[in-house]
Amino acid sequence: MNPIISKLTVLDIVPFGSGPKHEFFALRLTPPKWEGSDPGQFVMLRPLPARSEALCPRPFSICKLTGGHLIVFFQVRGRVTAEMAYLRAGDSVQVTGPLGNSLPVRADRPTLILAGGIGIAPFVEYVDKHPRPATLSVEFAHRYPLECYPFEGIAEKCATRSHPENSGQDRAAFITLMGKRIREFTPAGLVLACGPTPFLRLVRDMSTACGVEAHLCLETRMACGIGACLGCAVKAHLPADGGAPPLLRAGPAASPDDGTFVRTCACGPNFRADQVIF
Ligand SMILES: Cc1cc2nc3c(=O)[nH]c(=O)nc-3n(C[C@H](O)[C@H](O)[C@H](O)COP(=O)(O)OP(=O)(O)OC[C@H]3O[C@@H](n4cnc5c(N)ncnc54)[C@H](O)[C@@H]3O)c2cc1C
Ligand code: FES
Repeated sequence: MNPIISKLTVLDIVPFGSGPKHEFFALRLTPPKWEGSDPGQFVMLRPLPARSEALCPRPFSICKLTGGHLIVFFQVRGRVTAEMAYLRAGDSVQVTGPLGNSLPVRADRPTLILAGGIGIAPFVEYVDKHPRPATLSVEFAHRYPLECYPFEGIAEKCATRSHPENSGQDRAAFITLMGKRIREFTPAGLVLACGPTPFLRLVRDMSTACGVEAHLCLETRMACGIGACLGCAVKAHLPADGGAPPLLRAGPAASPDDGTFVRTCACGPNFRADQVIF
């Protein structure tokens, strides 16, 4: 489906977590004009009106889309997300979507979901739309308290474990656990991951070493989201069937092993783990 630019109205904005300063929000919007989306796709969003005209829209995973609303779950990071935290019912936002490819769904294969922090967002929709959620297992690592994240809805539908990361020891324990879990899903399972880049690198290295099929949802910074600015290029090995169109070759002296630059927004954000070079 071709992406459509819509002006949507805020239905409500719900802060997650406790404490004086909220950083996590579920933003519920009127439904967009497009009919549907697949789990793992994203939108480009910015608040209106004009005071934010100078700011580019930002990418956000589609956390939930129904006939009645679109939900985006976000963490305050910088200028645009700080502005989004002040949105109230009745305010307007510009949303372009649905964008990007989707996460693979294999109902016949046990699927391990590894999420780090705000990387949990695309899996709300994934778990919700999965035909056999009983085949899913979720391991979720997070630095903020669990109630800051949209975890409850996922935990109601499939096997989940959460791993607070408060120290280097916690981090080391989670890395060990990830290795163990990935081996458990080898060779017949499927591994999906979304989170910070160092975390995705680990998943890539572990799953490639085991030989299990793994897919990563990249959170590369994006300016346009529609393939026009080249700002989201990552290096990747293209599949033999040419599924992801090349943007630039790695350079005149490059060997095929050096990969090709592809636009995350146009060719991703979901890539097979063994294709991404980062
Ligand atoms: C496909 C995709 C889906 C995403 N889904 C979500 C989501 O569901 N919820 C959510 O909260 N965020 C998501 N993000 C990340 C989100 O787009 C950024 O947090 C947002 O663009 C920050 O904008 P800002 O203006 O607030 O921050 P800026 O002012 O642009 O930057 C503030 C700080 O955040 C860092 N930063 C900005 N963007 C990123 C990024 N993509 N990765 C790592 N660091 C970054 C900057 O380096 C800087 O230090 C997603 C990103 C992509 C590419
Ligand atoms: S964000 Fe502009 S090309 Fe991808």
